[in-house]
Amino acid sequence: MKEGVCWLHGEILPLEQARIPVLDHGLLYGDGVFEGIRFYAGVPFLLNEHLRRLRDSARAIALEIPWEDQELSGITAAVVEAFEGDDGYLRMIVTRGEGPLGIDPAQCRAPRLIVIASRLEMVNHAARTEGVRLITAAIRRLPPDGLDPRIKSLNYLNHILARIEANRAGADEAVLLNAQGRVAEGTADNLFVVRDGRLLTPPVIDGTLPGITRALVIRLAGEAGIDVRERSLAPYDLHTADECFLTGTGAELIPVREIDGRAMKACPGPVFRCCSEAFRQEIRRHCGGERR
Ligand SMILES: Cc1ncc(COP(=O)(O)O)c(C=O)c1O
Repeated sequence: MKEGVCWLHGEILPLEQARIPVLDHGLLYGDGVFEGIRFYAGVPFLLNEHLRRLRDSARAIALEIPWEDQELSGITAAVVEAFEGDDGYLRMIVTRGEGPLGIDPAQCRAPRLIVIASRLEMVNHAARTEGVRLITAAIRRLPPDGLDPRIKSLNYLNHILARIEANRAGADEAVLLNAQGRVAEGTADNLFVVRDGRLLTPPVIDGTLPGITRALVIRLAGEAGIDVRERSLAPYDLHTADECFLTGTGAELIPVREIDGRAMKACPGPVFRCCSEAFRQEIRRHCGGERR
């Protein structure tokens, strides 16, 4: 099955045959949470970290997940097994389930679990090696007192609007600023810049998802002797950076060559290369193999 497979209601189906009812509040209101998880050589990468964030997101929106971690791991393993291919991308979604048409979740009695194994290429090979072009979007990241950025929810509309801006500008990806004009993140990835050998990334308080890849890169960079700090960034810091790169489960690590028409000094730069190599090694250590 090249396209993928999906676990739904206790069955594993070809992806194109998986269907959910239209009264699911995940569809009607974006009421639900999710995780994207890569697997390499048939082994899910950082699964425990993803399950933990899924649970935290669900608790934050008062959604009870009735499946134990062991069940979720078992379903994940079964879906990976049914997928034709050693390397791929999992999408684990928990919706509020079906209810009446109104927004009130009180009558949604049974959360729905969906686990997809498929592929995800965020950018093509050329962009991955030569670097991507970013724009800063006019649309802002939702303020944390509206929707906490730590919740990985099914509400991505303002990120989609940012991505539409990037598409219209002929760029590969957009950077969202927060309401105060500080850099938050990409539409589905975290952002790092390098200035004078120091690696900087915005703090979660500035409106960024605490990315699992971000946390890993912070650890690996530190272990490699790179001075790495969480620091609030302005567009000026992007425009004047020596290097910039994106991180995420889907993205992995992608170098940036241009932001708002300003070329980075190096792409891929030495700090990117060091982090990228350490990331590859970590995958090999964890999963025993990888795609590229
Ligand atoms: C908005 C947003 N920021 C950052 C990330 C990167 O997070 P992670 O490394 O945990 O995949 C993602 C991807 O899931 C995302 O959707």
